Amino acid sequence: MSTFWSIAVVLFALIAQFAFMNHPYEHDHHSIGSLARGFVDPNQTPLKNVVAVVTGPTSGIGLETSKTLLTQGATVLGIGRNPKSLARVADEVADLPGKFVTFKADLSDLSAVSSAADEILAEYTSIDFLVNNAGIHYGNPMQTNKIDIESKTKGYDLCFVTNYLSHFLLTEKLLPALEKSNLADPRIVQVSSTYHWLSDGFMLGTSHPDSPGMPLAAKGDFYDYRHRATAYGNSKLAQHLHTKSVAKRLNETSSKVKIVSICPAWVGTDIAPEGPMRSIVKTFAFTPSQGIYSLLMALFRPEVESGDFVGNTNVVTHLPGKEYMITSNMKVNLGGLGIVHLREHCTDFLAMVLMVAQRFNFGWFIQSSSPESYDEKLQEELYIWSKGVSKEFE
Ligand SMILES: NC(=O)c1ccc[n+]([C@@H]2O[C@H](COP(=O)([O-])OP(=O)(O)OC[C@H]3O[C@@H](n4cnc5c(N)ncnc54)[C@H](OP(=O)(O)O)[C@@H]3O)[C@@H](O)[C@H]2O)c1
Repeated sequence: MSTFWSIAVVLFALIAQFAFMNHPYEHDHHSIGSLARGFVDPNQTPLKNVVAVVTGPTSGIGLETSKTLLTQGATVLGIGRNPKSLARVADEVADLPGKFVTFKADLSDLSAVSSAADEILAEYTSIDFLVNNAGIHYGNPMQTNKIDIESKTKGYDLCFVTNYLSHFLLTEKLLPALEKSNLADPRIVQVSSTYHWLSDGFMLGTSHPDSPGMPLAAKGDFYDYRHRATAYGNSKLAQHLHTKSVAKRLNETSSKVKIVSICPAWVGTDIAPEGPMRSIVKTFAFTPSQGIYSLLMALFRPEVESGDFVGNTNVVTHLPGKEYMITSNMKVNLGGLGIVHLREHCTDFLAMVLMVAQRFNFGWFIQSSSPESYDEKLQEELYIWSKGVSKEFE
């Protein structure tokens, strides 16, 4: 199957190359800053009083977001797992007007996440932005191999804990500091993905027959869940369900804090598997500078509401026939050859189409998320289970 997808990627990349040689939407850190200007201080460093926590500031979208906020004068508290990478970024941004402060935590280790949050709270009583960005995809073997899954995740699935559960804990711990922000509407941005459409949510509830009381997707030893895209899709739907649950709670308490999910679309970063796939994605997908557009909109635009899903493209919204795929979870058993997950491969195929199509439809769009993401029972089940886990580490 991977050969099939490699060929598909190359074909789509070639089409993209011919169809759209020069992308007109490239911007620099300064032009995007005009979006921020006016929300805090009307001077050259409008974010000089803003404190933003960013997970995964060492690469891709997190690095670009950090640089953009630092260019506008913000203090960025970067949470990363690798001290050398954090030091490299600190060097790289040393001349920018803002202040970059690093906190070490491997997000697959909930104790480490809790300690990093404590360190932040000891120094900063109020926080303005929380960008839950760090993430992995099992399609990148380098990322999964360099971590001792069993010892770090204490039985939770690595992708689930890194992408979702760590950010749940971080959000719970930092929310009181966000409430103390001087901004009119401090914000939490969850870097989710359109890939959440792949998950039907069944593995995220707590009544799955194979895993009563605990989401099957959370289990570290569930072979089927190791299927790379399903794991990622579940973690990204979990993030967006979390957004919806927290938004509901914030609205009920008339909190001024907003929480929003975003998708940066296809962006050429190190999350793509190493090798030809990564080179192709880095050549033809959006650059990180383009990829953070929806993230910045989610941070700054007043019309963005809690619980929204904001994307850099809305191709998926207009995709004909998607209703059929998102409501089915078809598997074909090929006997000795294994089980083919039709939904997963269809979504992978659509993702390839998206890599080309997104170039013709760049912007920022508040859009519908998958039908499952609106399932309030599922939102609640996952929230309550996650809160139970989180409490052990708070
Ligand atoms: N790129 C895309 O096309 C795309 C599309 C949709 C959504 N996203 C989402 O965007 C987010 C950022 O991804 P990216 O594309 O910027 O990928 P990336 O370049 O690989 O960056 C991922 C960041 O997460 C950090 N990270 C990974 N595992 C960690 C752990 N256990 N503890 C602490 N930090 C960890 C990485 O740190 P190291 O430097 O130490 O590895 C890195 O800073 C992810 O949540 C991803 O799901 C990306």
